[in-house]
Amino acid sequence: MDKLLIQGGTPLKGEVAISGAKNAALPILCASLLSAEPLTLANVPHLNDISTMLRLLAQMGVEVTLDGADGLVLDSRALHNPVAPYDMVKTMRASILVLGPLLARFGEAKVSLPGGCAIGARPVDQHIKGLRAMGAEIRVEEGYVIARGKLKGARIVTDMVTVTGTENLMMAAVLAEGETVIENAAREPEVVDLANCLSAMGARISGAGSDVIRIHGVERLSGATHSIMPDRIETGTYLCAAAATGGQVRLTRTSSSYLDVVVDKLLDAGCEIDTERDAIVLRAPQRLKAVSLRTAPYPAFPTDMQAQFMAINCVAEGSAVIRETIFENRFMHAVELIRLGADIRIDANNAVVTGAPRLNGATVMATDLRASASLVIAGLAAQGETLIERIYHLDRGYERIEEKLSRLGASVRRVH
Ligand code: EPZ
Repeated sequence: MDKLLIQGGTPLKGEVAISGAKNAALPILCASLLSAEPLTLANVPHLNDISTMLRLLAQMGVEVTLDGADGLVLDSRALHNPVAPYDMVKTMRASILVLGPLLARFGEAKVSLPGGCAIGARPVDQHIKGLRAMGAEIRVEEGYVIARGKLKGARIVTDMVTVTGTENLMMAAVLAEGETVIENAAREPEVVDLANCLSAMGARISGAGSDVIRIHGVERLSGATHSIMPDRIETGTYLCAAAATGGQVRLTRTSSSYLDVVVDKLLDAGCEIDTERDAIVLRAPQRLKAVSLRTAPYPAFPTDMQAQFMAINCVAEGSAVIRETIFENRFMHAVELIRLGADIRIDANNAVVTGAPRLNGATVMATDLRASASLVIAGLAAQGETLIERIYHLDRGYERIEEKLSRLGASVRRVH
């Protein structure tokens, strides 16, 4: 398995371009199932999760054609196999996002239940509850969700805010008969990007970005062209890496408009930040001030940035409290950060982090995607050499990370 070898202690300086958003691209790839005409996408990130989703769609019969450096054309006209098998779904939970579109377009779907994952059980009961409300007959047998039926509009109130739950139900509703109202809907920008793509395909959606989304079903959807929004979590991750190393970076092809709370926390930590139309510049102080945070659904502090902020708090001045309210087990990076010399005390879903004057490199192990990112940030800030194992987690969500970090002056290389 690949490892990442980092010589820490160098402030990051320079400019990198941010890629398209993984968590917008994944549902939008599934939207191609909703139309018999081709969906042309631009700014698609080159990530393992994207490749996994494309393999899943291709084995269903979707024709995938590369279109330039970061473009794709997806054509589901010849789809013949509305099945998402376990061996593909087990590697990526987001595969559940094919359930709504398959049901909407073909009236049937057989999708393996995604297993849990390192950060939590992550059930899909809300996805199933909403589809049943729309008239689907759904059985769960031998680890598969087996669904069939013609969907009708319904009023759905999810028990909690669920991002992919909202996305699955929105995609199911665009071809259902009548109006669907999703209340307690997720407000994440990636939900809005999906809604924009669906609207370009002819869907009738209003309220995306708010907690009430209304969808009027239509007979069929057409093809469309859509460019994936920038990845706000990749953006936040590089901002944290620059902050933790006392550096100065300019990130292009992105914006701060979906990162208000994250930018506010970086300002509280003592960074200077300038925002341009499609770029963001960060200048770090000599030493950061510790910042406390509490994760919650958008527009509050994103859980996908929690691990990265734990890393910068490990080298900041003072103590901070980090509260994780979304997932039940999303502090696994803490024990690895402690191996680098961090002072972290975990109490249920609270972590108290007391900044150390410096961290010292060591061998650490990645456990999940964003935990890996926090280990990279800590390794860049630490003195000496850090070896990060199991970086396949990292490759799921960060495009060419060692190349982009090297361009910012980091001493990092992939070792096999
Ligand atoms: C999406 O996951 C993201 N993934 C996650 O990003 C992100 O952490 C999460 O939203 C929260 O923002 C994608 O968009 C592909 P949820 P999702 O449904 O949709 C519970 C990353 O690092 N829940 O919003 O799976 C669930 O257990 C990944 O890129 C139910 O109980 O998350 C969790 O506690 C990690 N039943 C909470 O709700 C359900 O039916 C929020 O989960 C659905 C969710």
